[in-house]
Amino acid sequence: MLIAMSEMSALPASIDATLSLLQSQGYVADRALATVLFLALRMKRPLLLEGEAGTGKTEIAKTLATALGRKLIRLQCYEGLDLASAVYEWDYARQMMAIRLAEAGGGGADRERLEGEIFSQRYLMKRPLLQALEPHEGGAPILLIDELDRTDEAFEAFLLEVLADSQVTIPELGTFKAAEPPIVILTSNRTREIHDALKRRCLYHWVGYPDAPRELAILKARAPHAPAKLAKQVVAFVQAIRREELFKAPGVAETLDWATALVELDAVALDPALVSDTLGALLKYQDDIQAMQGSKVKELLDQAKAETRG
Ligand SMILES: Nc1ncnc2c1ncn2[C@@H]1O[C@H](COP(=O)(O)OP(=O)(O)OP(=O)(O)O)[C@@H](O)[C@H]1O
Ligand SMILES: [Mg+2]
Repeated sequence: MLIAMSEMSALPASIDATLSLLQSQGYVADRALATVLFLALRMKRPLLLEGEAGTGKTEIAKTLATALGRKLIRLQCYEGLDLASAVYEWDYARQMMAIRLAEAGGGGADRERLEGEIFSQRYLMKRPLLQALEPHEGGAPILLIDELDRTDEAFEAFLLEVLADSQVTIPELGTFKAAEPPIVILTSNRTREIHDALKRRCLYHWVGYPDAPRELAILKARAPHAPAKLAKQVVAFVQAIRREELFKAPGVAETLDWATALVELDAVALDPALVSDTLGALLKYQDDIQAMQGSKVKELLDQAKAETRG
């Protein structure tokens, strides 16, 4: 039983094994990403992924958790994220109730004993960071710290401490230290720079838009119902539109959405009217849509078709 469990969660032994592990879950990584991921797992270092929106940063943590049979623990960052939401919180309502009950029980309940009881694990609400330090069946969990750039620097400094020692201290209870530190993946959309001190602890990778062959492979893996010719044209068109001056270029997520929308419409190939009508799956800003409408759609489509023919 124990052996089966350790097999289930064995880490990949090479870069190629990492690539195929991801591929087995429909995640198509390039070699650079597989390399840095392999190293992060080997060296037990957090991996910081930065990049454009919708390029598979969050997905890689999910994929890795499934592929390794590990629990995924996600800390979604946002402005104002505090320790109560990230680490732990006392369950005040239940603590109050326990106090009332003790009081109602009369006998001038032993104050010290009561205090010890209400500040015990029973009344502790564990949030993602604390959960990630606990032991888990099947091995250390994957801790996804998503969109770190949305928090403030004070939180980042605290996080640095947690990552450095794999431990947190709760004044009333003592220190929780992970026997086996979690596998940590951090993502950022780079709305602000992550501090150097944190970066220094991590391995780093910029997740860019995929090239055409990889985007086609992603499409095949994630939207297998799209006819081959349509898939090729979709990818070529998206690659072409990304070269335009846009406020927000489409990510892989948009490519997949668009392909799915086209399949829903029973399309087997692109034409200018179809592209114009469905541009909203690809571009999410009216200025971008307006700039691409009309002759521009035709121009990009001709370009895409010429490429896919060759
Ligand atoms: N390399 C890839 N292989 C397979 N699917 C991918 C890949 N890259 C992106 N995707 C798909 O694209 C979608 C968006 O990915 P994800 O949510 O991970 O993007 P993100 O980089 O975290 O974006 P954001 O910065 O907006 O959070 C997902 O549905 C994912 O399945
Ligand atoms: Mg994400």
